[in-house]
Order: sequence, then structure tokens, then C-alpha cells
Amino acid sequence: MKNHVWRPLYIVIVIVGVILLARTLLVPEDFGIHERGYMYGWHRKSNEAEWKKVRVKYKTAKVCAECHVDEYNYIKASGHASISCENCHGPAYDHPQDPVGLTIDRSRALCIRCHSFMPYKGNIRSSIPGIDPEKHYPQAQCVMCHIPHNPKPMNQKREAKS
Ligand code: HEC
Ligand code: HEC
Ligand code: HEC
Ligand code: HEC
Repeated sequence: MKNHVWRPLYIVIVIVGVILLARTLLVPEDFGIHERGYMYGWHRKSNEAEWKKVRVKYKTAKVCAECHVDEYNYIKASGHASISCENCHGPAYDHPQDPVGLTIDRSRALCIRCHSFMPYKGNIRSSIPGIDPEKHYPQAQCVMCHIPHNPKPMNQKREAKS
């Protein structure tokens, strides 16, 4: 064969060699096919322990019900039944150990996030009952008049808390 055929072939051989060398140096020893077979089993074995250490942020309302059963039943019978507790109180992590208590946010901003009126027809967001935050009792906390766990009756009248 002629030189012009060999020269590119040498280059290809060198590239393949470099890739094989890099593979033996870079790929961790415990990478391979594990229990779950060829299709799903490809991973680094020590990565399993790393994932087990990841703290689960959100626990879902079912977990809250174990201890806050009254709040749970109350809200599940209200217009806010579909809203997850942690949407308003933040991620639970290992609560009540860490953090001991969860955030209680009484700001207007918490509610306006979902209830500021949106004029987009056919969009799910617009189907949430909306108010104009600049006109709807702008000086007052929403929770003075609406119980967040049961917003409909608007039967709550009391002093604003900080
Ligand atoms: C194992 C029982 C337990 C579970 C499960 C639990 N809590 Fe609690 N929660 C507590 C205890 C105990 C406190 C009181 C801690 C303290 O001294 O502030 C508390 C406090 C709170 C507070 C603060 C109340 C206040 O008056 O300051 C909120 C809000 C709260 N929990 C929400 C939740 C939510 C949301 C969930 C589900 C993601 C949840 N909790 C799951 C036991 C629990
Ligand atoms: C994550 C979004 C979200 C947040 C945050 C939220 N809401 Fe709602 N709210 C909804 C949805 C969705 C509905 C309508 C449910 C339905 O139509 O069945 C609703 C319904 C209502 C209603 C209508 C009455 C009813 O029972 O249907 C009022 C009033 C209300 N919310 C007030 C508040 C207040 C006050 C806050 C803040 C403490 C708040 N909401 C926070 C999503 C939210
Ligand atoms: C729409 C937002 C929202 C949702 C959803 C929500 N909360 Fe609350 N929660 C609040 C606010 C705001 C307060 C403070 C109310 C106040 O003091 O007027 C509060 C108060 C509390 C308190 C303190 C005791 C009390 O009743 O004042 C606990 C405990 C609590 N929530 C647990 C829960 C649990 C458990 C769920 C789910 C089953 C839940 N919350 C869902 C907004 C919410
Ligand atoms: C001073 C008391 C008061 C305050 C503060 C207040 N509201 Fe209202 N809200 C009412 C009353 C009364 C109604 C029913 C009559 C009306 O529409 O004005 C209502 C109606 C609503 C509705 C419509 C409910 C439906 O079924 O269509 C929503 C949503 C709402 N409020 C959310 C909020 C939010 C979010 C805040 C805080 C940003 C807030 N409100 C602050 C008294 C209050």
C-alpha cells in the first residue's frame, strides 16, 4: 500500500491507543455491570452509597398526617386540598428532628404567587381564583381574613402576627 494510506491509518491507531489508555486510567475499577443486568446495571458500585447519603428534601402530606392529623384532615376537606403542605411550609427534611419546626410564612407574597389574577384564557394557572394584589386589601395579611388551611369561609378575624 502507498504511504498516503498508511499515514492516516497510523493516526487512527494512535488515537485508538490513546482512548484505550485513557479508559484504563480514568474509568474507576468498580464501574461495570451490577445486579440489575446489562440494560440498567451500568454504574459505579460506590455511587450507591453516595446516593444513600443524599437527604430527602420533600416528605409529602401523608407523612405530615402522622403527627398533624387535625391540620391534615382540615385542609383535605378545603379548597386547598390539592396543595401540598410543603409548598407553603418548605421542605421537611428530617423534621421534627431537623429542623425542629418548619417555616410559617404569613406574608402576602406566599399567597400572591398562586392568586395574583392572570388573564390567560385556557391556561391552568388562570383557573385558580385570582385577585388584584394592589386592590384586594393591600395593607393586610391575607391570613387575617382567610385561613390558609381552609381559605373559603373567610371567617377568621384577628390581629396580624409578625
Ligand atoms: C413525627 C411527628 C411529626 C411529623 C411527621 C411532622 N411534624 Fe411538624 N411538628 C412536629 C412537632 C413535634 C412540632 C413542634 C416543634 C417545635 O417545638 O417547634 C412540629 C412543628 C411544625 C410546624 C411549626 C408549628 C408552629 O406552631 O411553629 C409546622 C408548620 C409543621 N410542623 C409542619 C409539618 C409538615 C408540613 C409536615 C410534613 C412534611 C410535618 N410537620 C411533619 C411533629 C411532626
Ligand atoms: C401553590 C398554590 C397556592 C398557594 C400558595 C395558595 N393557594 Fe389558595 N388556592 C389554590 C388553588 C389551586 C385553589 C383553588 C382550588 C379549587 O378551585 O378547587 C385555591 C383556592 C383559594 C381560595 C378560594 C376558596 C376556596 O376554598 O376554593 C382562597 C380564598 C385562597 N385560595 C386563598 C389563599 C391564601 C390566603 C393563601 C396564602 C395563605 C393561598 N390561597 C395560597 C392555590 C394556592
Ligand atoms: C396555602 C399554604 C399552606 C398549606 C398548603 C399548608 N399550610 Fe400550614 N400554615 C400556613 C400558614 C400561612 C400558617 C399560619 C396561619 C396563621 O397563623 O394564621 C400555617 C400554620 C400551620 C401550623 C401551625 C399551627 C396552626 O394551625 O396555626 C401547622 C402545624 C401547619 N400549618 C401544618 C400544616 C400541614 C401539616 C399542612 C398539610 C396537611 C399544611 N400546614 C398546609 C400555610 C399553609
Ligand atoms: C380584610 C380581609 C381580606 C384580606 C386581608 C384578604 N382577603 Fe381575600 N377576600 C376577602 C373577602 C371578603 C372576599 C370575598 C369578596 C371579594 O371577592 O372581595 C375575598 C375573596 C378572595 C378570593 C376569591 C375567592 C373565590 O372563591 O373566588 C381570593 C382568591 C382571595 N380573596 C385571596 C386573597 C389573598 C391572596 C389575599 C392576600 C394577598 C387576600 N385575599 C386578602 C377578604 C380578604
